[in-house]
Amino acid sequence: MKKVLLLTSSLFGDNGNSSQLAAAFKAEVADKNISLTEKDLVALNLPHLDAAELVSWMTPAEQRSEEQAALAQRSDLLIEELLAHDVVVLAVPLYNLGIPSQVKAYFDRLERAGVTFKYTEQGPKGLVEGKKAVVLAARGGVYAGTDWDSQTPHLASLFGLMGISDQRFIYAEGLNMGEEKKAEAIGSAKAEIAELVAAL
Ligand SMILES: Cc1cc2nc3c(=O)[nH]c(=O)nc-3n(C[C@H](O)[C@H](O)[C@H](O)COP(=O)(O)O)c2cc1C
Repeated sequence: MKKVLLLTSSLFGDNGNSSQLAAAFKAEVADKNISLTEKDLVALNLPHLDAAELVSWMTPAEQRSEEQAALAQRSDLLIEELLAHDVVVLAVPLYNLGIPSQVKAYFDRLERAGVTFKYTEQGPKGLVEGKKAVVLAARGGVYAGTDWDSQTPHLASLFGLMGISDQRFIYAEGLNMGEEKKAEAIGSAKAEIAELVAAL
């Protein structure tokens, strides 16, 4: 059975447009032989990454203080969870041309040298193998395929650094450009989601 980790990250919870795309994904997988783990990155409420947490990673496990062990566990458990799934689906809004800070805080716990990637003479090499990433992107304006879309390459690199190069991006754009455009964008994103799930 395929295991899917479905991440949501709208400030508006279930009412977010990106959450609507996540709900469409969930509805599509409901009658499939797929196990789904849902995680709301806003509710997870991770703090900014700080020096104490970084130092906890660099301290050998057997030498960690109790506080360091707890700090290192935050990232360890999130990486363990990622590794336990075959597909990670990230439903993500575009906020100020980027990813929500909660999504950044999550990736800050996943991107660990020596654990999820390593440095080599040829540059960084991902250590996470055999996974697929799907991004369901909700945006007020229209940016995909233009120089203004800095979110797509950022997410592609964040997944790519860990070795997750099998990626699919589905966009619902122009959501703040009138009801007609919004309905059309959500409708076509949902159709793409259905086609994607059928091929999973
Ligand atoms: C704080 C904030 C910043 C936003 N910044 C942008 C932006 O830079 N570009 C854009 O096209 N839309 C922007 N929007 C609109 C959102 O991308 C759009 O409403 C999208 O549906 C948000 O997804 P959500 O409903 O899942 O939260 C912004 C919305 C908010 C709340």
